[in-house]
Amino acid sequence: MRSVIDILDLSTDELEDLINVALDIIDHPDKYADACRRKKLATLFFEPSTRTRMSFEAAMYELGGNVISMTDGATSSASKGESVADTAKIVSCYADIIAMRHPKEGAALVAAQNASVPVINAGDGGHCHPTQTLADLLTIRRELGRFSDLTVGLCGDLKFGRTVHSLIGAMSRYPGVKFVLISPDELRLPDYVKNDILDRCGIPYTETASLDDPMPELDVLYMTRVQRERFFNEEDYVRLKDSYVLTPEKLARARQDMRVLHPLPRVNEISVAVDRDPRAAYFRQAANGKYMRMALILMLLGIEVR
Ligand code: NCD
Repeated sequence: MRSVIDILDLSTDELEDLINVALDIIDHPDKYADACRRKKLATLFFEPSTRTRMSFEAAMYELGGNVISMTDGATSSASKGESVADTAKIVSCYADIIAMRHPKEGAALVAAQNASVPVINAGDGGHCHPTQTLADLLTIRRELGRFSDLTVGLCGDLKFGRTVHSLIGAMSRYPGVKFVLISPDELRLPDYVKNDILDRCGIPYTETASLDDPMPELDVLYMTRVQRERFFNEEDYVRLKDSYVLTPEKLARARQDMRVLHPLPRVNEISVAVDRDPRAAYFRQAANGKYMRMALILMLLGIEVR
């Protein structure tokens, strides 16, 4: 029984398989319409979510399966003091696969160690968010056609932004990838990601506070929201929240084939006027997430569709 807690739980060959299944689903949705008949997905969300939970649920429905859902920790037994370990054991009795989001780093791992069905980490605190990375990868593949030889700018809250940590893990395995880490000093990428991934794999990266300077060299600009819920005080959030705002004027210096990604939700780090630019790929990225989650559910349930 296999869970996905970290993006590195999936090999690059498996990522390739998932992408190929997702592309086949896009082309032939009917082939997959009954693939998960009589199977149940449990979505356990102890933190707010729109895209991740709804795309997991839409994914399971489009595979012909069913969904049982806990959308709010406050209305579940967690509010009575039940541990994540116990919840995982119990939900395993009711569902064939679990997608879980939790504010504590490591919660999904604890769930996986205690569940008797596959667990998918749908975000654990400021740690990682592997299925967002699946959406990001399908987007990069569909928009740019490759993962190698790319200069990827990551901008905003690199400290608490779990999507950034997982994307760096995934992209560090492809040749010729370079990162430009764009953040205010206080929101720089944590040392554990720098040491364990970038330095260990010998990946070139630069750190800067400027969004303008690196703009012309980027193939991908990955914007992120400042993660208000992870701050210890509101003052720091207010001071940092508008550090970067991508506008059409700023984008004018970017290459024509560059793509702007954002895991969403956006607050105001990308002005609405950018949405009309063909390089703005973030709404297409959200759509891609559903197809990759369908592919992942099939893989973890061991279902092959021919
Ligand atoms: C992200 C998350 O939850 O980390 N959202 C998402 O799943 N698309 C990004 C964010 O909340 O800023």
